[in-house]
Amino acid sequence: MCGIVAYIGKQPVFPILMKGLHRLEYRGYDSAGICIYNHNRLNIYKKRGKVSDLEEFVKDKDVSGTVGIAHTRWATHGEPNQHNAHPHYSQFEDLALIHNGIIENYQTLKKELIKQGRTFYSETDTEVLVQLIDYIRVSSRISLTEAVHQALSQVVGAYAVAVMSKESPRSIIVARKGSPLVIGIGKDEFFAASDASPIVEYTNEVVYLEDEEIAVLSLSAKGKPKMEITNLKNVKKVPLIQKLEMNLSSLEKNGYPHFMLKEIYEQPQTIRDSLSGRINMELNTVALSGVIDHKEKFLKARRIIIVGCGTSWHAGLVGEYAIEELARIPVEVEYASEFRYRNPIIYPDDVVIAVSQSGETADTLAAVKIAKKNGAFVYGICNVVGSSIARASDSGSYMHAGPEIGVASTKAFTAQVSVLMLLALALAKEKKMIKKSSLEQIVRAMYELPEKIEQVLKKDPQIADVVKIFTYSRNFLYLGRGYNYPLALEGALKLKEISYIHAEGYPAAEMKHGPIALIDAEMPVVVIATNRGNYEKIVSNIQEVKARKGRIISIVNEGDTEVKALSDFSIEIPRTEAILSTIIACIPLQLMAYHIAVQKGCNVDQPRNLAKSVTVE
Ligand code: M6R
Repeated sequence: MCGIVAYIGKQPVFPILMKGLHRLEYRGYDSAGICIYNHNRLNIYKKRGKVSDLEEFVKDKDVSGTVGIAHTRWATHGEPNQHNAHPHYSQFEDLALIHNGIIENYQTLKKELIKQGRTFYSETDTEVLVQLIDYIRVSSRISLTEAVHQALSQVVGAYAVAVMSKESPRSIIVARKGSPLVIGIGKDEFFAASDASPIVEYTNEVVYLEDEEIAVLSLSAKGKPKMEITNLKNVKKVPLIQKLEMNLSSLEKNGYPHFMLKEIYEQPQTIRDSLSGRINMELNTVALSGVIDHKEKFLKARRIIIVGCGTSWHAGLVGEYAIEELARIPVEVEYASEFRYRNPIIYPDDVVIAVSQSGETADTLAAVKIAKKNGAFVYGICNVVGSSIARASDSGSYMHAGPEIGVASTKAFTAQVSVLMLLALALAKEKKMIKKSSLEQIVRAMYELPEKIEQVLKKDPQIADVVKIFTYSRNFLYLGRGYNYPLALEGALKLKEISYIHAEGYPAAEMKHGPIALIDAEMPVVVIATNRGNYEKIVSNIQEVKARKGRIISIVNEGDTEVKALSDFSIEIPRTEAILSTIIACIPLQLMAYHIAVQKGCNVDQPRNLAKSVTVE
């Protein structure tokens, strides 16, 4: 939530900041702002709305300069207006600051600062931080760096910040705790951003700042760059420079009208990438290095707890079904936000699997920390390389889905499920719970997944057509059994988050315990009926809906006749192994949600009120 970007060097800063803001806009789009140093002052321009609104606003402004910071906001404290937009000045415009995170004790600090004569112009916690730094700097007559240290030692909460000063325009100070921050090291220049996307086209050398670290990025009078990192206790840190592996074209729409559609269409390739090197076609087996290296931990596990939020939690549920079915290890799946606050019982011989696309979700990160504190072994399944959860985990597997920019998670879900299925198979194999022939059969089916997804994608025009008449429906119900139950939840989440249509996912049999009361001729019911094990049961559930005049849209296996005959509309998908079925069956659900939202004129990539990474509680 909120994206920050900063630059100090010799290039014109404005285009670098604007391009960076566009790349980070998925993190929040309530307002955007920049601060550029020129003509001996810090010039802040900010605007409510999107980055493009800011671009329009600054058209006639002097944005020359080579040092600056910029911010795109997802509002937490204070409504999304111009006053509350970042950057924020200190009292006399000597400092400017951008912030991603939440300062929890800002009210107490604000009261104290008001007593000391400070005036506030916004309702934000961020303005309190910049005023605090400035107050400490002026009242104690210390350097800006020391003031930043002292101020950050007083704040409670999460932050990634960048601070500029009128007095020292040849340096920018950045710091983080709980919110992500990556520094790019170029030739005679530094970049800093919430993720690597604003940096990747300039340099592939990066440093991921650790919690409670502060970096001073400066240029000498002769233009020599210098980076000094210390922690809050003033201990010097040696930066660990890492190579960035990110493809620039993965950050563009490449001809698609929306990132979401592009990401849906990328799934044949992302599935290939997430399986690559982990399944062996010749031996028909799986090998997940994270599991092999920590085999003992997994084999001795009393149970596995999977934590995640939103779509990642849904993937975790699919993982639970597969791990219990194949490896016979008890699994619990928890919302990270509940897990972290409900005083859970965690045993040292538990394995906690944290699932997160961004690797930055605040609740999931906190759950990881609690699990580690209690001695559990933590395995991270993340997409963003070098992200906080990936780094905080004891071991893990990356999803290799490439950058996901659309706020609605699509390719990350199928990659998460793929990795969890590999994990289930690897554990079953290590525990000798699976017959060689069954393992081989599933591995072969995994190889076929990309091609089968391609076949479903060819049905896109048909899917767009089917959902046309439901564009203005006010409610949707999604039903599934077994592996298709988490998928029903995921289908409903996709629809509600991008089209603003109320949708609920249910295990099909639960319908009789309440939701059936909602069914009438106006209610579209999406039924995922690809299971073979409980096919007859789902047929009965469909009949119950039909008897109440509900309208059925079914996702069925090719060649299905019974469910098709009962449905108003059906979408056929290729058959696969039960544990892999969600990876194929979710494609029509993603496309349905996409087309309904587009037909309604919604902004599918940046739905209202949402942000891609939820880095605050
Ligand atoms: O980055 P994470 O996977 O940890 O994010 C978790 C959720 O915020 C995310 O899946 C969210 O629910 C998506 N918008 C769903 O499409």
